[in-house]
Amino acid sequence: MDLGGEDTGVAEMGPSDRKSETSRLVAPNTETSPSYLNILSNICGLVFLGIILYCCFKDDVTLFSFHPTLMTLGWMLFMTSAMHALTPGDLATGWMPIRLKSARHWILQVIAGTIILTGFIVIVTNKFINSAYHFTSYHGKFGLASFIFLLMTMLGGLGALNSLKLKHYLPPIYTKLIHTSAGLLTFCLGVTTILLGFFSNWWKKDNPQWLTILCFVLVLMSMIATTLRPILKIYIRLRERLDIQN
Ligand code: HEM
Repeated sequence: MDLGGEDTGVAEMGPSDRKSETSRLVAPNTETSPSYLNILSNICGLVFLGIILYCCFKDDVTLFSFHPTLMTLGWMLFMTSAMHALTPGDLATGWMPIRLKSARHWILQVIAGTIILTGFIVIVTNKFINSAYHFTSYHGKFGLASFIFLLMTMLGGLGALNSLKLKHYLPPIYTKLIHTSAGLLTFCLGVTTILLGFFSNWWKKDNPQWLTILCFVLVLMSMIATTLRPILKIYIRLRERLDIQN
């Protein structure tokens, strides 16, 4: 395996890129303290999933019951865990070399995508069965957009995974920056969709306001805890790029 700067694209990297989690040259940093943000995000996601499970299955089990459940599981647990996999101090991946972290990231994303696709098929089928119009509410429209963005981001992930092979077309740093930015946008769009779900008649008809507020807080806290560091990372990388160019 050739680890020369030319071949790996390291020569084109800025200072933080060389330390980047996606650089092949980096050994795992076992001294990083555990990420409390990841733990917080997981706890919020789990509590939220518990609430959704209770609300969906407390009366009876219908096809619809699986829509919020699968979407919450895919978006708030698997997708967040996939994003955490690449952050320093993650309890599950802190000890892993970068290649394993990256594998865990994309495997969890594929599982999340499969669960979300099933949740999407469930709700569209449910509407067909009930002869209802499709994508009429804001929740439905944002849901469709989130789903399309998710498919595009996953395709872009293939580019990020093969960024070194694509370096003749685009430097790896940009392939990864684009994938990270698209991923963050997709995730935030999905969270917005979930929040809009609380304005549906199904939710409002038998859930108290305090529960809606609690769900808002849990979902938003999980979103902030998950996106804060990737956003900072993009900011630092872009500043470095600009500094190099000036
Ligand atoms: C990111 C996660 C989610 C996505 C991508 C999503 C997507 C969608 C889409 C696309 C529809 C419309 C389907 C159609 O018109 O054929 C829909 C409907 C619905 N969803 Fe979700 N959903 C998500 C999470 C949730 C959650 C957590 C809840 C419960 C709080 C929920 C409750 C509903 C309800 C009640 C409907 C039927 C009424 C309507 O169309 O607005 N969804 N969802």
